[in-house]
Amino acid sequence: MTALASAVPLISACSGDQSILAPAGPVARDIALLWWAMCGFFTLVLVVVSAIWIYAIWRKPREYSLDDARRIQNRWLIGGGIVLPSVTIVLLLLFGIPVGTRMMQLPILGEQPLQIEVIGHQWWWEVRYPDSGVVTANQLHLPAGRPVDITVTSADVIHSFWVPRLGGKIDMIPGRENRIRLQADAPGTFRGQCTEFCGTQHSHMILDVQAHSDEDFAAWIDARREPQIEALQGEAGATFMAHCGTCHRVAGVSAGNRAPDLTDLASRRTLGAGLLPNEPGAPLTWLREHGRIKSGTGMPLTDDLDAEHLQAIATWLEGLEP
Ligand code: CUA
Repeated sequence: MTALASAVPLISACSGDQSILAPAGPVARDIALLWWAMCGFFTLVLVVVSAIWIYAIWRKPREYSLDDARRIQNRWLIGGGIVLPSVTIVLLLLFGIPVGTRMMQLPILGEQPLQIEVIGHQWWWEVRYPDSGVVTANQLHLPAGRPVDITVTSADVIHSFWVPRLGGKIDMIPGRENRIRLQADAPGTFRGQCTEFCGTQHSHMILDVQAHSDEDFAAWIDARREPQIEALQGEAGATFMAHCGTCHRVAGVSAGNRAPDLTDLASRRTLGAGLLPNEPGAPLTWLREHGRIKSGTGMPLTDDLDAEHLQAIATWLEGLEP
C-alpha cells in the first residue's frame, strides 16, 4: 500500500511544465485541489476496504443462523453498495461542479477577458487574436493576472486543447466552437499539448505558452500588427512565394492558409510545433529533413530545390522578426 501511495505522484508527474499538480493560476489551482481531494478520498476508501478485507480473512469463523446471515448480508449490500457510493458521488459532484463551471467562460465583472481563437490542425496550432488581427502558430501569448477566454475548433480531426498549469482541457471538434478560460498568476512559460489522439504525430503537437505582464503583452501584439513588408521583398521572398506561399501565410507577402502562419517565425522558440529549438540553422534543418523529423505532415519534400535555393529560403525565414 505504501508503495502504491508513493507511486501515485510519480505516475501523475507532479512537477514540470505540464503537471496539473503545479498549478500557476486560479482555475488550475481549483483543478489541482479537486485532484488532491479525490486522491485523498479514494486513498481512504482503499484503506478502509483493505482493512475490512484483511479482517474478514483473519477473524475466527462464526456460526450464523440463515436469518442472521441474510440480515448481515443485506446490511453490507445497502450500506456498502448503495449508501456509501451515493454519498461519495454527491460529495464529489458538490466539489466538482463548481470547479467545472469556473473552467468555463462565465460572465465576469470588471475588465473583460481577452479573446483568443485556437484552431487545431494535424499537427499544429493556429492562434488568432481577433481584436488586433494578429495571427501566429504553435505559440500562445497571453497577459498574466487576468482571465483569457479561448475559443477552440478544429480544421480536420478532433484534437484537444490543454495547458495543464493554467486551466482545464477542452476538445477541439470540427464544425463546433468550444470555450475555455485560462488564467496565469504571473508572467512565465508553460506548455500545452494536444490531448486527443489525432494521428501519427499527435505527440508532436506542442503549444509554447507564454504569459506576459500587461505592458509586455501589449508590446508583443503591437509588434505584430504592422509587419515590415518592404524588408520581406526581394529574390529570396519571391523564391519563398513560389515554393511555400501557396500553403504558408506571411503577412504582407503570401496568403496561404493550409499550413502554419510564419509571419513572426524568427521570434518563436521552437519549430515544427515544439520539435526543434529555433536556433540559427534550424529552419534549414527543417526544410531539408522535415520528412524525417515529423513524417506525415502535409508539407511536400523539398527534393526539387537545390541547396542554394533552400539556403536562401532558410535565411529569409530566419529574418521573419516582427
Ligand atoms: Cu492533435 Cu492530438
